[in-house]
Amino acid sequence: MLVAMRQLLDEAAKGGYGVGAFNVNNMEQIQAIMEAARETCSPVIVQASRGARSYAQDRYLYHLMLAAAELYPDLPTVLHLDHGNSYETCKSAIDMGFTSVMMDGSLMPDGKTPSTFEYNVDVTQKVVAAAHAKGVTVEGEIGVLGGIEDGHGAGGTGLEHVTDPEQAAKFVELTGVDALAIAIGTSHGAYKFSHKPDGAVLKMDRLIEIHNRLPKVHLVMHGSSSVPKELQDIINQYGGKLRPTWGVPVEEIQLGIRNGVRKVNVDTDNRLAMTGAIRKVLFETPEKFDPRDYLKPAREAMKQVVAQRMTQFGQAGHAADYQPIPLAVVAARYAAQ
Ligand code: G3H
Ligand code: 13P
Ligand code: ZN
Repeated sequence: MLVAMRQLLDEAAKGGYGVGAFNVNNMEQIQAIMEAARETCSPVIVQASRGARSYAQDRYLYHLMLAAAELYPDLPTVLHLDHGNSYETCKSAIDMGFTSVMMDGSLMPDGKTPSTFEYNVDVTQKVVAAAHAKGVTVEGEIGVLGGIEDGHGAGGTGLEHVTDPEQAAKFVELTGVDALAIAIGTSHGAYKFSHKPDGAVLKMDRLIEIHNRLPKVHLVMHGSSSVPKELQDIINQYGGKLRPTWGVPVEEIQLGIRNGVRKVNVDTDNRLAMTGAIRKVLFETPEKFDPRDYLKPAREAMKQVVAQRMTQFGQAGHAADYQPIPLAVVAARYAAQ
């Protein structure tokens, strides 16, 4: 059953664990996540960006997710919109059956230009009203991620717009968001840090300050791929050209989870795993041309990364802890608040 993300995050807070949110663009990626979740008995957050929605087309994505919910009825599963850039984008996702949306009002609709606090509050309030009326969860963002290479971001190092705890508190109070994405120096894509990150570039102290100010708020860490050297090496060994780079170490994410992080966004690690597996097949057996010969190992490589993260974030073993609440019931609860 597709469920509201709020329920998964409330349960994660009770259990003191984090839930990975993995990006998808196609069937193989959805299959990889669902199989990893089955193997580890994990609740699931599948997320699609605007780019994913236009690549796959909304209807294909939605029906693939319905198939996943039908095939894995025992796994509470969320379909979440990643980085919605406007009210219209979020509304179309809600109307299509997404059970959670992110309104990223930290940026203007171009997905690049930092917005004002007032704009962010205003657009997020509108999305919260439309979403909660249907029982759909809303993630907002305060502070701006760095980088621009992949997906959303304002460029730079990620330290220019680190989240201010007081502004975060005001934002949550004014908007009523269910989860809050914060900026602590991370960015999207493979090139986050030029060395193993320390406190000068990855602001875990700021995250802890925000958690202490807002202990009940579900925090979201974007740009949380660890960019493991082993995955970089496979790509480069088989003809790829990645420059040396560092991501967010898993132990830092685990520190975040001990301090209020309930949703952890991972896309790049899965992209690296799939691409490495495909390169290996094409390099070692150049005579092959059946897509299944490389998509199957790619799917398996992604499944392994996702299962490992599910275990590391602590969600493994928690799929059967609770009964899914229908969205209509969730909507009635919001209305009664
Ligand atoms: O926002 C970042 C995610 O990795 C999605 O990236 O916009 O290229 O689909 P995308
Ligand atoms: P990565 O690029 O670090 O995987 O981050 C993904 C993300 O934050 C999607 O919103
Ligand atoms: Zn993100």
